[in-house]
Amino acid sequence: IWTMANFIETEIASIRERVGKGKVICALSGGVDSSVVAVLLHKAIGDQLQCIFVNNGLLRKGEAEKVVNLFTRHFKINLDYVEASDRFLDKLKGITDPEQKRKIIGNEFIFLFEDESKKLGEVEWLAQGTLYPDVIESVSTKGPSAVIKSHHNVGGLPDRMKMKLIEPVRELFKDEVRLLGKELGLPDEVIHRQPFPGPGLAIRCIGEISADRLEILRESDAIVLDEIRKAGLYREIWQSFAVLLPVRSVGVMGDARTYDYTIALRAVNSLDGMTADWVKLPYEVMGSISSRIINEVKGVNRVVYDISQKPPATIEWE
Ligand code: XMP
Repeated sequence: IWTMANFIETEIASIRERVGKGKVICALSGGVDSSVVAVLLHKAIGDQLQCIFVNNGLLRKGEAEKVVNLFTRHFKINLDYVEASDRFLDKLKGITDPEQKRKIIGNEFIFLFEDESKKLGEVEWLAQGTLYPDVIESVSTKGPSAVIKSHHNVGGLPDRMKMKLIEPVRELFKDEVRLLGKELGLPDEVIHRQPFPGPGLAIRCIGEISADRLEILRESDAIVLDEIRKAGLYREIWQSFAVLLPVRSVGVMGDARTYDYTIALRAVNSLDGMTADWVKLPYEVMGSISSRIINEVKGVNRVVYDISQKPPATIEWE
């Protein structure tokens, strides 16, 4: 019978056989997928695994610190922390097109990996947390028009890198990866973390990305998650987040006129990310999110709720 315990055993054996005494690098993002891959690989090959965590400046509030703590302190996994915020923000300056943002971010990741892997000497293998839905949504057999969004973590690496891929969860759906994580002893906080896209806040900062706009988005997003958690809804919702729109609107604060940004609140339920429905959030929760964002985040004077299904909308706005 197929069980998670069997899956782990089989994967460990197969990883050991493929890798031998070779080194493997793994891009750790802090999400469920890459965390599961890292812990699974660590179980299989121990110190032959070198994880790399890139702070691309597009992460959620406090995310980088949490990841570093968990993997170095708790799991004792070799982790290389790369601070690359300025590098990413520089490359993204003036870019508004969603696919171009993805491409730039994907390319920067690859450049950084090349750099880091060179520092580590001979690295033959690269481990990735590619999931089944990523594979079918990106690698379409129906021609380019059927490719909805290019997910940067799928599609392989440039030939010059000469690294072979290990993708142990390539055939699994998200809920299966969560079960696998539980079996591997990952904390609930990671297992039940809502999915977060590789390009991060860049594709939730609609229009031009700047340090200032990212800060507005990051603070708003932290409030969304805080209120969703307080309401006991975090684990029931597939994804809940803030989107910063490029639209400014008129408001009034005290006796002064404001002309500030709008935050769109998005909360969806989904089984695998392929289809999704907006969550009927309690009015009180929407109310406290809205008033907290408007009161606490400078530069925002309006919050709206996104009530679109996927399809035809997507979960992300870009
Ligand atoms: P969409 O917006 O296509 O999102 O309905 C479906 C799921 O995929 C996530 N997503 C991404 N993940 N790189 C990723 O790693 C990306 O470029 C990307 N775009 C969307 C999204 O958050 C949702 O869970």
